Amino acid sequence: MTSHSEQISATLVYPYLNHAVRMYESGYATRGDVDAGMRFGCGYPVGPLQALDEIGLDVVRDALAARYAESGDHLHQPAELLEKLVAEGRTGRGVGRGLYTWADGAVVADEETPSSDDAPRLRHEVRTVGVVGTGTMAAGIVEVFAKAGHEVTYVGRSDDKLAGVVASITKNQDRAIAKGRGDEATKAAVLGRLHGATSREALAEVDLVVEAIAEDLAVKTELFADLDRICKPGAILATTTSSLPIARCADATSRPEAVIGMHFFNPAPVMKLVEVVTTERTAPEVDETVRALCARVGKVAVSCGDRAGFIVNALLFPYLNDAALLAEQGTHSLVEIDAAIKEQVGLPMGPFELLDVVGNDVSLAIQQELHREFGEPGLAPARTLEEAVAEGRLGRKTGAGFHDYS
Ligand code: 3HC
Repeated sequence: MTSHSEQISATLVYPYLNHAVRMYESGYATRGDVDAGMRFGCGYPVGPLQALDEIGLDVVRDALAARYAESGDHLHQPAELLEKLVAEGRTGRGVGRGLYTWADGAVVADEETPSSDDAPRLRHEVRTVGVVGTGTMAAGIVEVFAKAGHEVTYVGRSDDKLAGVVASITKNQDRAIAKGRGDEATKAAVLGRLHGATSREALAEVDLVVEAIAEDLAVKTELFADLDRICKPGAILATTTSSLPIARCADATSRPEAVIGMHFFNPAPVMKLVEVVTTERTAPEVDETVRALCARVGKVAVSCGDRAGFIVNALLFPYLNDAALLAEQGTHSLVEIDAAIKEQVGLPMGPFELLDVVGNDVSLAIQQELHREFGEPGLAPARTLEEAVAEGRLGRKTGAGFHDYS
């Protein structure tokens, strides 16, 4: 008999695994990038495709088929590839073949595994970096580059906002020192690489700019047109948008080949993933340079196309939304659902804890975008997520979200 918390985890996790198979079978992302995305972007112990092999493709397929028979929701219908692999007897780790090839309980390299010869190289020199923005993501991105030894010019709207970035990086450096992982000399060196400015003109000579300002297309296109005017020829212009089309930012410039997405995860200094998002016009050497740069600053890069949600948000937010839908049924409390996910699945945070960290306004906007892009009725935002936003319960930043932080 399955326990209460096993039921919760299967209800929430199996559709997420199915969605990951669909993403892989559609060719949007490679098997390795789907798994690396969830491991390094969200701190999951294993990626969804490897998790499927470990649970057994037949087990997940049967559970989904039973659920689909009840719900009729296409999101619960087992993915074609899942059906095919099960029909071929490739049910996962137990038989040595599933989505991956296995030997002695571990994944072995196969025809889809990249070799070390494929490691990206820096095609353009990137020494100095610019960041536009002073919010949480911007401050984290400034810190990532400064810690890796880059001089960073960051642009904000006021001296107070610039000081906020220094304060956040100082706090993280002090925490590292307190934990015995840093020293005063390193802290001074990191802070010495920060160059705040209130004018964008300060970005004229940087090799790469990452923007992390408001998620508003008009605001971003104005910025990209201005960066195109200000930045030297050859400078790469990157956006950390999570939901807007990068092609539209590229269209605002005379250098669409140098425009790319670098989607960092929250908290940026800790989460190792960067989704590198290319448009049809991004130059291959710009893509390769940015992926090599990610490796140089200690991040793992995965490659994505310019589509709502990229890899991680497209898999993560439907699962978070499903958690809200499950809670709405009234049979499980928020605390029970959070605990089941942490204890049964080993994820670092429960869904409601994570929603409150990301912000319910941000989460709702992403879910609305996914609903629009994929047109699946099952992706409609949960009523309680909409209510939380309407009532101003945005999460930790407002002192209350799904949970209370007062
Ligand atoms: N800034 C800098 N460092 C931080 C930090 C912050 N805001 N928060 C935590 N850290 C550091 C701590 O110093 C600590 O480092 P140490 O162990 O080396 O000293 C390390 O991170 C672990 O922190 P804690 O021990 O305090 O706490 P946890 O063990 O609970 O880990 C966590 C915190 C790393 C955030 C972990 O809970 C986690 O991985 N959560 C999942 C986060 C996630 O899913 N993020 C993705 C959200 S989606 C997104 O960002 C996309 C966007 O488009 C919305």
